[in-house]
Amino acid sequence: MELLEWNDSYSVGDALMDAHHQVFFRMVRQFSQSPERDSHDAMKKRIAFLAEYTTMHLGAEEKLMQQVSYPGLEQHRAVHQAFAKRVHAAKEAYIKNPGSIAADDILTIMQEWFADHILGEDKKYMPHVRQQA
Ligand SMILES: [Fe+2]
Repeated sequence: MELLEWNDSYSVGDALMDAHHQVFFRMVRQFSQSPERDSHDAMKKRIAFLAEYTTMHLGAEEKLMQQVSYPGLEQHRAVHQAFAKRVHAAKEAYIKNPGSIAADDILTIMQEWFADHILGEDKKYMPHVRQQA
């Protein structure tokens, strides 16, 4: 799997959101390079962390969009909810049957989705956030 690195082109104009996104990319990288990445214990911990991180980050982002009265908030929130559901479903599926999901599956879902989402939906709130800064 090709790994993405965060760079300035991913900036959404808000320091906290950029920091969250950077942590995310770093986490994916570390996980993919970890020698025990396919061990059950490591997977269980990482999936749990990713699920929690996703919930925390998406909530923080929605709060920011609300603060700047972003007009696309409801639509963006719906996209977040669909993604959070997917992540939590992957977590449940893994707990039920660890053989059903490999580390690469999780990493690909997370990385591709975030990269796409940051460059697409998240970039749209950038001018609104910047206006308020
Ligand atoms: Fe978002």
